[in-house]
Amino acid sequence: MTRPNPQRALITGASRGLGLALATILRERGAQVVGIARDERRLHAALAPIGAHPLAADVGDTDADALVARASSLAGGPFDLFVHAASTLGPLGDDSEDPMPRLADVSADALQRTFAVNTLGPALLVRALHRTMRREGGTVVVISSDAAIERYPGWGPYGASKTALDHLVGVWAAEDAALRFLAFDPGEMDTAMHAAAMPTADRDALADPGTVAAAILARLDATSGTRAVIEAA
Ligand SMILES: NC(=O)c1ccc[n+]([C@@H]2O[C@H](COP(=O)([O-])OP(=O)(O)OC[C@H]3O[C@@H](n4cnc5c(N)ncnc54)[C@H](OP(=O)(O)O)[C@@H]3O)[C@@H](O)[C@H]2O)c1
Repeated sequence: MTRPNPQRALITGASRGLGLALATILRERGAQVVGIARDERRLHAALAPIGAHPLAADVGDTDADALVARASSLAGGPFDLFVHAASTLGPLGDDSEDPMPRLADVSADALQRTFAVNTLGPALLVRALHRTMRREGGTVVVISSDAAIERYPGWGPYGASKTALDHLVGVWAAEDAALRFLAFDPGEMDTAMHAAAMPTADRDALADPGTVAAAILARLDATSGTRAVIEAA
């Protein structure tokens, strides 16, 4: 039996890249979509053409319960899909060709901020959603990275915050059989984040976020607690 399309989706990082691509496909399939990002003007400009609801917030510094309550009211009911696509790379260094900094050079504030956006923020949003999400068919998706597995120089804070997020997915799944919890490594995509981290990369070799978004939405049936790699590039 095929899984019904999500009816109400909450997506962080929805103003561009993978988050916007997911929002676009879900709107095409008739879902109510609430999209979160910090830059309010850019978020409105991105979501107005597709008819999704913008909700400006910083996922690393917000009252998660209040944010979920506002989002549910915009969507007109409980969510059956949450995707955490927002993320920060952490601070970038001065090397214009390789700006990802050594772990030893990252300040305590920057480390905390990276974990706040990539790990703690989604953990608190999922905690709030636990109480309000539709139990039947409810799915939580986090966007991970190969940096969660590989120990790349320069990717310490980002990679460790994604490893912790992957771990939370496994624990959530073990603790709650009613909802489905999934992590996806999207592979390398042609987005602003990739350009910021690897400015000299061959962009023609990177996947289109729309292709990756479609592949993720096709795999929402995966076993709860699992982590999958999307190979679209
Ligand atoms: N691109 C790649 O090659 C690649 C590879 C592996 C994994 N990923 C993962 O894929 C996901 C999507 O990345 P992307 O490449 O599509 O990124 P992107 O194009 O740079 O988009 C990032 C989105 O997140 C929002 N955002 C950033 N910080 C936020 C915060 N504190 N609160 C709320 N929203 C925030 C941004 O809007 P504002 O700036 O206005 O807040 C934007 O909408 C991320 O989780 C990333 O780690 C990407």
